[in-house]
Amino acid sequence: MPMTAFVVSGVSASFVPGRGQRVAAATSMRSPLPLRRRAVAAPLQLRMRDWGVRAGGVERFADALVETANKIASPGRGILAVDESTKTIGKRLAGIGVENSEANRQAYRELLFTCEGLGQFISGAILFEETLYQSTRDGRQFVNTLNQIGVIPGIKVDKGLAPLGGALPHETWCTGLDGLSERAAAYYQQGARFAKWRAVLQIVPGGPSRQAIVENCYGLARYARTVQDQGLVPIIEPELLLDGDHTIERCAEVQEEIYSTLYQICQTQGVFLEGTLLKPAMTLPGADCKNRVSPDRIAELTVRTLERGVPAAVPGIMFLSGGMTEEEATINLNALNTRKRKGPWALSFSYGRALQQSCLKTWMGKPENVPAAQQALLARARANGKAQQGQYTPGSEPTLDRTGTFEAGYKY
Ligand code: 13P
Repeated sequence: MPMTAFVVSGVSASFVPGRGQRVAAATSMRSPLPLRRRAVAAPLQLRMRDWGVRAGGVERFADALVETANKIASPGRGILAVDESTKTIGKRLAGIGVENSEANRQAYRELLFTCEGLGQFISGAILFEETLYQSTRDGRQFVNTLNQIGVIPGIKVDKGLAPLGGALPHETWCTGLDGLSERAAAYYQQGARFAKWRAVLQIVPGGPSRQAIVENCYGLARYARTVQDQGLVPIIEPELLLDGDHTIERCAEVQEEIYSTLYQICQTQGVFLEGTLLKPAMTLPGADCKNRVSPDRIAELTVRTLERGVPAAVPGIMFLSGGMTEEEATINLNALNTRKRKGPWALSFSYGRALQQSCLKTWMGKPENVPAAQQALLARARANGKAQQGQYTPGSEPTLDRTGTFEAGYKY
C-alpha cells in the first residue's frame, strides 16, 4: 500500500490510506522498548479517523477542520462578525461621527482584537481582507493578537452580490469563486482558519424564485468545498433577509426549501459536513409583519425548520443578528437554547451588529473611551455566551442599542 508523507497538526507523519488509517508519528519499526512495554507505548501512534471524504485536498485537513469547527461552536462561545466591507464600516463610523479612514478602521479593530477576556465568550472573529493583513499601531499583527486572546481568525471570502439575470428583479447571486482556491491558500498562510460566504435571498410575493435558491445554494456549496481543500472551515451563510411583511410561518416554509436544497447540493459538491458551520437567520416574521411573535414561538419554528433540513453531521449553527437589537438577539438565542430538541448541533451566535452597537456608541472614536468600549463589548459577548447555554436573564447585561439596526436591503 502506498504511503504518503504529510503533516498532522504540524507534525510530520506517514499516512496509510484506507480503512483504519494509522499515522505512525516518527515511530520506528524496531522499537528499543522491551516487548511488554511496547503495548503501553502504542497510544503514541496518532489515529486518523476515516472520514470518508472525497479526495481533492480536504482529506489532508479533515481532522483539523473538525477540530476548528467544534472549537468555534464550543459551549458558551460564538463568533464576532467584524468583516464589514470598507463601505459598510464607513456607515458604522459615520453613526458615531468618525471619519472612514484606514487609521480609524485600524484603531477600532485594534480595540476589538486586544480586548482581554474576549476569548471566554468569543471563539472566532470574521475579518475583512484589509483587516486580516493589518496590525496594531505598535506593529503586532491582528491575527496574533486574536490568537493571544483565544479567538480564531476567520476571513470573508465572497466578493459581494450581483444581479441575477432571469430571476425576480431584486434577486442576486454571490460572486467570488474565480481565484478562490488561491486566495483561500493565501489566507490560510496568513493565519485564517475559517471563512465566510454570504448569499442573500428575500421573501416577496412569488419569491424567492427557484432559480435564486438553486444558484445561491450552488455558490455556497462550491465555495465550501473549495476552501475546505485549502484548510479553511466554511461558514455557509444563506441569509434570508428580514425585509417584507410575511408571517413567521411563511419564513419557515421558505427556509425549509433553502436548507433542503443547500444540503442536497453540498452532497453533490463533496462538502465535508463535519468540517462546516451554518450561519442562517433565525425563523422570524418579516420586519413589516403586523403579527409579532414571542421568543418561544421564534425558537419553536427555528428549531423545527432546522430539524427538517440541516444534517446532524453539521457541528454548529451560528445565527446572524440581521438587524435585531442586541438584547432581542440575545433573548431569542436564549429561548432557542432552553427548548427541548432532537437536533444535535450547537446553537450559537455569529453576530455583527448585535455585538458592536454598545461598543461603538461607548467608543465614539476617542482613545480615552477604549477601556469602557471594551467593557461594553465584553458585556454583550458575555450575555450571548450565557444565552448559548440557555442561562441568560433578560436585562442582566447593559446595552445602548434601543432601536436595532434593521435596514431594508442590507449590504454587509
Ligand atoms: P449581522 O449579525 O449584523 O446580521 O451580521 C452578521 C454577518 O456576518 C452577516 O454576514
